[in-house]
Amino acid sequence: MNTIIAPSLLSCDFANLQSEIEMLNASRADWLHLDIMDGVFVPNITFGMPIIKFIKKYSKKPLDVHLMIVQPERYIADFKKAGADILTIHYEACTHLHRTVQEIKANGMQAGVALNPHTPVSVLEDIIKDIDLVLVMSVNPGFGGQSFIPNTYKKIQQLKELLAKSESKALIEVDGGVSNQNIQKLHKVGVDAFVAGSYIFKSDQPSKTINKLKELL
Ligand code: DX5
Ligand code: ZN
Repeated sequence: MNTIIAPSLLSCDFANLQSEIEMLNASRADWLHLDIMDGVFVPNITFGMPIIKFIKKYSKKPLDVHLMIVQPERYIADFKKAGADILTIHYEACTHLHRTVQEIKANGMQAGVALNPHTPVSVLEDIIKDIDLVLVMSVNPGFGGQSFIPNTYKKIQQLKELLAKSESKALIEVDGGVSNQNIQKLHKVGVDAFVAGSYIFKSDQPSKTINKLKELL
């Protein structure tokens, strides 16, 4: 499978959002990663439906929407309407995970489940066959620009074993502190999709930085 680079718009220039999206359209980015934070599940607030709709209007690439909100089940149809293609909810934020995953799929989106750094992979045993993607957080969610947590490598290996054992085809996505320093090692242990925010958008030429990451894979 083609390895996926998903730039996180959290670190982009929101005052020039349209040109940022056009830059990504012309780049080798595969998905656009959107971080939705509610100030409750995580200590930060980002953006909601109107901004997602605007991004959808200009983006030629799938929208990979990462919900860092409590009770995500309240808004599944709304995120579909706004333009989400992949919708990822946090294991730690959703009591009825199975029901909510089914609802995401019934709404025509791919369903992802995210794990915080402290949450073991084993909690996914009884849901892994039902999901399209596992998002392994390699920083504590809430902010861009944090340092990568090295324990993530071990978690990816454990997740790989769980996927093989359960014959699941779920993709493994990693999010937080991804850069040229760790992308190859992460790829080697089995990551399919890489989210990168500050490494891409704080560089002089984000489009070239995306190329550089692609070439490392
Ligand atoms: C953090 C978000 C990430 C963030 C990653 O809570 O989920 O998607 O944008 O940013 P970097 O790549 O700067 O760690
Ligand atoms: Zn994210």
